[in-house]
Amino acid sequence: MGIREVQASEIKMNRRLIEKLVEENGTPILVIDHRRIRRNYLEFKERLPRVQVYYAAKANPEPEIIETLYGLGSSFDVASLSEFNLVFEVARADMPLQNEQDFVWRHIIYANPVKKVDSLRELNLYKPLLTYDSIEEMRKIREHSPDAGLLLRIKVDDKKSVVKFSNKFGIEPENAIGLMGQTLGEGVKVEGLSFHVGSQCNDPNQYIRALQNCSEIFREAEKREYQIGETFTRGYPVKLVDIGGGFPVRYNGSEHDFRDLANSLSRELDRLFPQEEFDILAEPGRFIVANAGTLVSGIMLAKHEGRKVPTYHIDDGIYQTFSGVIYDHQHPTFKSLKSGKRKRSFVFGPTCDGIDAIAGNNPYIESLTPAILPHLEAGDLIVVENMGAYTNASSTNFNGFGGAKLIHINQTTSKRLKN
Ligand SMILES: Cc1ncc(COP(=O)(O)O)c(C=O)c1O
Repeated sequence: MGIREVQASEIKMNRRLIEKLVEENGTPILVIDHRRIRRNYLEFKERLPRVQVYYAAKANPEPEIIETLYGLGSSFDVASLSEFNLVFEVARADMPLQNEQDFVWRHIIYANPVKKVDSLRELNLYKPLLTYDSIEEMRKIREHSPDAGLLLRIKVDDKKSVVKFSNKFGIEPENAIGLMGQTLGEGVKVEGLSFHVGSQCNDPNQYIRALQNCSEIFREAEKREYQIGETFTRGYPVKLVDIGGGFPVRYNGSEHDFRDLANSLSRELDRLFPQEEFDILAEPGRFIVANAGTLVSGIMLAKHEGRKVPTYHIDDGIYQTFSGVIYDHQHPTFKSLKSGKRKRSFVFGPTCDGIDAIAGNNPYIESLTPAILPHLEAGDLIVVENMGAYTNASSTNFNGFGGAKLIHINQTTSKRLKN
């Protein structure tokens, strides 16, 4: 992401609110705006009306976020037993016991293709929907979670996505039909197919090609008279297509437009997967929460004397809320509430480690460009927007710096609005 001049007035959050929250809580704080989360969820639903949203809890697993989405009728994608329990606890508080299994079946997918045996045993109580991509995992599921529903994850092209998964997950499409046959042959049912084109996907064709691969596999399965699909929801077999996450967010304006992607996807879904035969699921994470998070950090030390490049040490860094710089390949845009002539500036986090450089001067991430900031002093605030996804989720306590305090604004009732 390139360098660009940023004016204080471009900060979307109200300046007085930022100052008030800092006065009350100190820094660093990560402000989560639930109005934005609701807007993102509703936009996703509006532009892809056929698609059931399973929010990927890994992007930001704050219980308050799960509650807001649960209230809107969202379903959830979880990757571990602890994420499963997190979602289940929120839902359970709101429903009679006899609805629990139904909720899990209809509203949770455990979409990590590799699961611990203990987790499988515990999950089996709820008859969950799981993904797999190997015969070995299928046999584990058969033994330890025999009541589960299964989606076979295929490998897809993720070259044009910022975060890639295909090095690790997914069976080659040409081998999928073989594994499907073996699965059915060993007495395990298959509900459908899944894929993930990589996170922050910048090429709609990656989705389109993945959908075409799925369609071909379903066609071949039909030719071979494989019985696939789930019968629980509509009383007759409906095949599931899980199109994963990857929906792009506007970080700096050069990203692919979600509206355009949604149009292409809708067309292709209707062309390839008739509504009577197929249900479509998606697992957006970043799209739902990224722009809902604004980080406010304080400058602990400002070094100017004898330096060409002003250097700021702030109270949040690469081991904490900026962990996405490493794991999510983020290039944050730093803003200030102050105005004045802007200069290229280095920004460091609070730990004793040289990798803890979040704007410029990072020997391990050369592409991390300096921030463009006015002259700042210790005590001034740094504001970074679009920090809601893959930030606090991977924050550590390294060096005893625990990362930003989370502050939730614009929450409404957690009561479920619809099922
Ligand atoms: C299986 C799965 N689903 C969904 C997601 C969420 O992806 P995104 O945040 O790009 O929407 C991820 C991200 O790691 C994932 O691994």
